[in-house]
Amino acid sequence: MNGRVSFIGAGPGAADLITMRGANRIAEADIVVWAASLVEEQCVRDHARADAEIVDSSQLTHDDVVETYRRAARDGLAVARVHSGDPSLWGAVQEQYDSAEQLGLETEIVPGVAAFSAAAAVAGRELTVPEVAQSVVLTRLEGGKTPMPEGERIREFAKHGTTMAIFLSAARTGQLVTELTAGGYPPDTPVIVAYKTTWPDELTLHTTLDELAAVVKEHKLWRHTLFLVGPGLCAGGTRSHLYHAGHFHTYRKADPQARRELRAQRGAARAAE
Ligand SMILES: C[S@@+](CC[C@H](N)C(=O)[O-])C[C@H]1O[C@@H](n2cnc3c(N)ncnc32)[C@H](O)[C@@H]1O
Repeated sequence: MNGRVSFIGAGPGAADLITMRGANRIAEADIVVWAASLVEEQCVRDHARADAEIVDSSQLTHDDVVETYRRAARDGLAVARVHSGDPSLWGAVQEQYDSAEQLGLETEIVPGVAAFSAAAAVAGRELTVPEVAQSVVLTRLEGGKTPMPEGERIREFAKHGTTMAIFLSAARTGQLVTELTAGGYPPDTPVIVAYKTTWPDELTLHTTLDELAAVVKEHKLWRHTLFLVGPGLCAGGTRSHLYHAGHFHTYRKADPQARRELRAQRGAARAAE
């Protein structure tokens, strides 16, 4: 057989948040490459074969990892490359994927539960709330090892006033608050601070923009932390039209009285604009 590399999203931490496909690929692998600092060991140990070669990628360069892929291509081995969260977000997957393809390996990406959706779940919040926030911006603060492209500053995204999930920025919270404030979020904007979400020592804190820097400093949350920001995080009382009895769609008829009420509400809202 040709060798194969599966890039697997292991989820945010808890070992049982990996997908069944991801777990199956680890179970099939001759070699499992994983980052011990980002993925819980149990996630690998629970699924890997007893005779699988387990490689901790924390100490490896890109070229070192590619050497493993080269060996897989030569010897027809299956490699499970385990990433935290979902591989499509800040996983440095693309360069590995392209190298694996060039080596003639079969390649695939198995999606995972990203940290921002796990943080929303742990906090018991929906990130898109009718009439308050209908978009989610996934981003990070500039100034880290990776320069931000032109036009992607936090203050520009903040102008939308919707929900933001901000990764990789906890070590520069003061700068983050300045950016969010410059973009127009008021000081009392709700913020959820999610540290090591779904790990045994996870911490979820509810605060506001003006308190954020102090909260992060008090708990020393410089790493493994993301922030959910936006007015939707405390919004309640708005109702989804999709599940309103007056709304119809392919699979459900509307209740006539509820439909009349819904139309009247929409008319009143338009008149008020
Ligand atoms: C290199 S990025 C990887 C993101 C990952 N691919 C994902 O889909 O969530 C690492 C950043 O993701 C966030 N992160 C990852 N796992 C987390 C967790 N369990 N709890 C809180 N933040 C997490 C933090 O902002 C961290 O600095």
